[in-house]
Amino acid sequence: LFSGPISFLKSAPQLQFLPDPKVPEIAFAGRSNVGKSSLINAMTNRNGLARTSNTPGRTQELNFFDIGDPLIFRICDMPGYGYAKAPPKVVQKWRFLINDYLRGRAVLKRTFVLIDSRHGIKPVDEEVMEMLDKAAVSYRVVLTKADKVKQEELDVTAAKVAEISKKHPAAHPDLLLTSSEKKQGIDELRLAVLEAVQS
Ligand code: GTP
Ligand code: MG
Repeated sequence: LFSGPISFLKSAPQLQFLPDPKVPEIAFAGRSNVGKSSLINAMTNRNGLARTSNTPGRTQELNFFDIGDPLIFRICDMPGYGYAKAPPKVVQKWRFLINDYLRGRAVLKRTFVLIDSRHGIKPVDEEVMEMLDKAAVSYRVVLTKADKVKQEELDVTAAKVAEISKKHPAAHPDLLLTSSEKKQGIDELRLAVLEAVQS
């Protein structure tokens, strides 16, 4: 699935610029700097497909990638939410864009909600999860940057995150543990995406 053609399609700064909703879409959401763009690159095995950066707030629009030729599905790389350093107006703009896309996109098959292994679920993550619950958009929680914490810490965070996820009706019960850096959990993520595309 990811060994065939993959290409950047377009950036949508506003909903009116979304691509035609003709194939399933899979979205990657999460706080700024959590590793969304890096995980897309690891999953597609293409460095530099999605732009990454050390500075939070790198991805500022909804970026769409076409998977397969003929086209099979699309990946949407989203701006991060809850980035306090950006001007309030910008944060608000991203928030509306993210919420409107996630709530209203008929072809959106699944959202992967990324959580930094060092930080666990923050209030803003729970807000997004609640929004997805209400909109009945199925999502799966993914821990990122697993290489940054010790195994014991990872176990504790994973248990806490799993506990919280269970209380959210639209959340998949199983977490994915990943590291883009060490290529951990990437095959599992690919399988989860494939399953979502076919659902
Ligand atoms: P925004 O677009 O700003 O919302 O960020 P993002 O969620 O797309 O994060 P991005 O992929 O740009 O990664 C942010 C930083 O974290 C970069 O410096 C990455 O190199 C680093 N990073 C991402 N994934 C991993 C990982 O698995 N392990 C480690 N150690 N660093 C990672
Ligand atoms: Mg990004």
